[in-house]
Amino acid sequence: MDFAEAQKEALDCRKCGPLCQARTKVVFGEGPLNAGLFIVGEAPGFNEDREGKPFQGASGMLLDRLLGSVGLDRERVYLTNLVKCRPPEGRSPKPAEINACRPYLMAQLAAVDPKVVIALGDLASRSLTGRKESASRIRGRVIPLDGRYVFPTLSLSRALYTPADRALLISDFSRLPELLASERPSTYETLNVSRATTAEREPLQPGLW
Ligand code: URA
Ligand code: SF4
Repeated sequence: MDFAEAQKEALDCRKCGPLCQARTKVVFGEGPLNAGLFIVGEAPGFNEDREGKPFQGASGMLLDRLLGSVGLDRERVYLTNLVKCRPPEGRSPKPAEINACRPYLMAQLAAVDPKVVIALGDLASRSLTGRKESASRIRGRVIPLDGRYVFPTLSLSRALYTPADRALLISDFSRLPELLASERPSTYETLNVSRATTAEREPLQPGLW
């Protein structure tokens, strides 16, 4: 499925009953197809569902500030979520829903072919790295996968409510200029492993996408 097909299909998608019934708008994602940075959140929330765009409201403002702190603006970044429809009552998406929506995310990744992918929060982090650790455990480690750097960090909602988490998110974003300026990875070695002991490391699952 190419990008145009994915977008067309997603905008009319009914693969998840509860999500497609409850949604107002499908939030496919937005950004330039030549973006070097690709950011994946968990799911659209109330404001995103109303606007049909990712990262609106308070989390959107926080994301804009985080990007601004390293000289980036959202117009140059591709933004999307694991699932394209808001789960009812803002619950987390279920594994079956994440899997059902995955082909759209894969088509977006293939089309944009970013150098750096930020995974926000536990679900995006696990889904994109194939590792089991929580985001708070794996955050700040840069994981080379399929010619890109996957960079898991905390969710924006967590950072909105907890100043200590916000500081960690700011610290993680501060590493973006260096990552975006570096060569694409050519190995599956985990970079910056010094933050974890050997026992904490999970085996890599290359070739997830
Ligand atoms: N807004 C989104 O679109 N996704 C998130 O994960 C959080 C806020
Ligand atoms: Fe389709 Fe994804 Fe929405 Fe599920 S969440 S109905 S797979 S677009």
